[in-house]
Amino acid sequence: MTPDTSNLSIREAKQSDAAALIAHLKALVAEPGINIPLAPDEVTMTVDQEKAILADFETSPRAIMFVADSGDDGIVGELSIKAISSRKAVQHVATLGMSVKHGWRGKGIGRQLMAAALEWAPTAGIKRIELYVYERNEPAIELYKSFGFEIEGKRRQFIREGDAYLDDYVMARLL
Ligand SMILES: CC(C)(COP(=O)(O)OP(=O)(O)OC[C@H]1O[C@@H](n2cnc3c(N)ncnc32)[C@H](O)[C@@H]1OP(=O)(O)O)[C@@H](O)C(=O)NCCC(=O)NCCS
Repeated sequence: MTPDTSNLSIREAKQSDAAALIAHLKALVAEPGINIPLAPDEVTMTVDQEKAILADFETSPRAIMFVADSGDDGIVGELSIKAISSRKAVQHVATLGMSVKHGWRGKGIGRQLMAAALEWAPTAGIKRIELYVYERNEPAIELYKSFGFEIEGKRRQFIREGDAYLDDYVMARLL
């Protein structure tokens, strides 16, 4: 089936998205060579646990989760951004993670999700957004660079993949 983005909307995630978000994550981490440090058997949260996570996002002033809702095919992407701490000295620093469903990539959905996050961030007092990305994850690195994220460092051997150890980058954008 050809992905149809004509009805796509970017909206805040709701607790009723919990089951769809778990299904999205399970499919994502089952992809061979996916650049996410999470094994399929580590996705163990229940729908109620995911609802609780979404409730936290809904009520926290410094965190939000967006989803890309395709309409007929449901959720095809997500982005979460969350302050790393409530401590006054660092509550302006947020960390970000995102993904788009296989088959829906390369159609501007990631770009729309990131635009929503960057519109929201200043309203929450965020002055720095940071993220971690596998060194080999060129699509993600290009997306982040195109939104003004810069590579600040490399974490050597940060990820174990079978017998190999991979590096990742710390990237950040200031607001
Ligand atoms: C990274 C990811 C979120 C990008 O989402 P997407 O919807 O495919 O991205 P878009 O179509 O909005 O593309 C936005 C920009 O990203 C870059 N990009 C996207 N796909 C690319 C590719 N295959 N190669 C190089 N750059 C690419 C381009 O700069 C592109 O802008 P352009 O279309 O104007 O050239 C998506 O590939 C994904 O979910 N990957 C698997 C999960 C993952 O790696 N998440 C990030 C973990 S850090």
